Amino acid sequence: MKILFVCLGNICRSPTAEAVFKKKLSVLNINAEIDSAGTAGYHVGEGSDPRSIHHAEARGYSMTHKARQFTTNDFEKFDIIYVMDDSNYRDVLRLAETPEQRAKVKKISALLQSTRFNHVPDPYHGDSKGFELVVDLAEEAFEHFIRGHYSDAGLKKEESF
Ligand code: 4NP
Repeated sequence: MKILFVCLGNICRSPTAEAVFKKKLSVLNINAEIDSAGTAGYHVGEGSDPRSIHHAEARGYSMTHKARQFTTNDFEKFDIIYVMDDSNYRDVLRLAETPEQRAKVKKISALLQSTRFNHVPDPYHGDSKGFELVVDLAEEAFEHFIRGHYSDAGLKKEESF
């Protein structure tokens, strides 16, 4: 299973989702490749935003990702590409060249049905509440993801998805 999370800058939302999914999958002993990328290149090579690191680490998640920009190679490398908002969705879909590539791009809202959010709001220009919310929504997304793909016993339900 190879999952890529995508946001705009790849320093707040998608690396937080990456860290939450990595930790929770490893606790469940599920082998997966999890990565993140940004549609923009503003922060390439930088570590995550210190505010994201602070809020994620306070809840036990390790944020070690270095920002990188999404490339068309990612359509081949990953099985699912989860985007954090509609603008990311448009930007990634614009780069897709085949129906198979387009089919890999999913809105994170598909995993947020138990919340009042249909995207993960960009926290960059806001206060600490926005950063905390990103961690909350990443955890919610994970809970929904794992229920959708694995039985309660932690056994794989589907061979591919
Ligand atoms: P992210 O947040 O897309 O969740 O990483 C942002 C980070 C940086 C900027 C915007 C959003 N920026 O404009 O630099």
